[in-house]
Amino acid sequence: MDNAPKKVFVKTYGCQMNVYDSERMRDVLGPLGYAETAVPEDADLVILNTCHIREKAAEKVYSELGKIRRMKNDRAGKGAEMLIAVAGCVAQAEGEEIVRRSPAVDLVFGPQTYHRLPQLLAQRRASGKAVIETEFPAEDKFEGLNVSTVPRKSVAAFLTVQEGCDKFCSFCVVPYTRGAEFSRPVEQVLEEARRMASQGVKEVTLLGQNVNAYHGVDERGRSAGLAGLVAELSRIDGIERLRYTTSHPRDMTDDLIAAHAENTKLMPYLHLPVQSGSDTILKAMNRGHTAEFYLRLIRRIKSVKPDMALSGDFIVGFPGETEDDFESTLCLVREVGYASAYSFKYSSRPGTPAAESQMQVPEEVKSRRLQELQALIHSQQTSFNAAMVGRTLPVLLEKAGRDTGQLVGRSPYLQPVHLQAASALIGTIVDTHISGVGTNSLSGHYVRAAKHGESIP
Ligand code: SAH
Ligand code: SF4
Ligand code: F3S
Repeated sequence: MDNAPKKVFVKTYGCQMNVYDSERMRDVLGPLGYAETAVPEDADLVILNTCHIREKAAEKVYSELGKIRRMKNDRAGKGAEMLIAVAGCVAQAEGEEIVRRSPAVDLVFGPQTYHRLPQLLAQRRASGKAVIETEFPAEDKFEGLNVSTVPRKSVAAFLTVQEGCDKFCSFCVVPYTRGAEFSRPVEQVLEEARRMASQGVKEVTLLGQNVNAYHGVDERGRSAGLAGLVAELSRIDGIERLRYTTSHPRDMTDDLIAAHAENTKLMPYLHLPVQSGSDTILKAMNRGHTAEFYLRLIRRIKSVKPDMALSGDFIVGFPGETEDDFESTLCLVREVGYASAYSFKYSSRPGTPAAESQMQVPEEVKSRRLQELQALIHSQQTSFNAAMVGRTLPVLLEKAGRDTGQLVGRSPYLQPVHLQAASALIGTIVDTHISGVGTNSLSGHYVRAAKHGESIP
């Protein structure tokens, strides 16, 4: 394989799992001589790591490919090569179709094949034809990638512990694009986290589309749940904070809930999507629980961790959603009181059962409902943030801010916090007196270095 210095440009769409995967692709490409560039025009290899979750996300890829193709032609005019690769969930879902629509594409490979990137590149060079690879199980990917050896430069890092999904919600493409559920072995995760810690990472967010369904094997060959994994991870020196996302209400076990009460490293922020507040819609979505089940769960979580900040995802305009169903969603949102939440118009996805429904909701109804729901969520987020003013919060300082002398960090509740502090404090947790709120962030003043095992007053 040719190891001459080359440049790679990676553009990442979609969820945090793609962000993690893009890093791993950079890891794999480093030894082949690829350094990263921030400008696609310079790149010998352009990778689009794509998302298929909604139609808009998938279509973005084709408009981007149009632009990249022109850059490829410009480079060819100067006698330089540019390979174009489409990775991720659109690659998995559409495969050859991508090359048919965009013949300039050289490589198409799905989320479970990144460890094979060197071979795929070699194959493309040898054959001169587009290479399409969408066939591998998740086990191979993690075996092949093993543990990342490339230094993480950030204070906070993502770590994928679980891949795929077996839940088959009737609207969702993930079980088809990411494949069956698979959990990485405990020791493999710990090794990666230890390495991150030794590189200065202080906060690890465990990732999975169903992260709380995690059930990796431990050293003794037994199956460990997410609560067990969190307990092990929290013993690693240097790792000060742990988070996990995304969780499914059905997998919110008692021991995981208890971990939030007992483990001071586990942050009081939980992304627990419910999608709808109507039992009829939840059933049609195949979510496998009722609105009351979710509300009871939230009450249980709040009873052990009263300050837990809650976040969620909602879909409006799912096929058959009536005005009453939508009202039930608003009702549920009012009852829970979210710190933040994401909401989307239902998007019909090829191959999913809901796409076949004859009861599609008109676009203008979806738009109106989305607006109404977003206004409610926004007002909840604003009051959640406003309630922080006057409090002193432990803030993990992550990087320099926009203004001189300013640093940005995160509160336990995932809010960005801006304050004036010495850059030597990056990577430490400081008690910060909160004095202001912006739309999506807080501002405050340095009080003191936080005590170990940061408690929230
Ligand atoms: N595994 C997570 C969610 C993964 S996708 C879970 O089960 O909660 C992220 C979010 O995208 C979902 O929570 C849902 O709100 C939204 N989403 C998924 N498919 C969609 C579709 N077809 N149309 C609109 N939104 C969708
Ligand atoms: Fe999609 Fe449902 Fe699986 Fe989440 S749980 S990834 S929404 S199928
Ligand atoms: Fe999108 Fe794939 Fe993530 S469809 S949301 S990038 S798992």
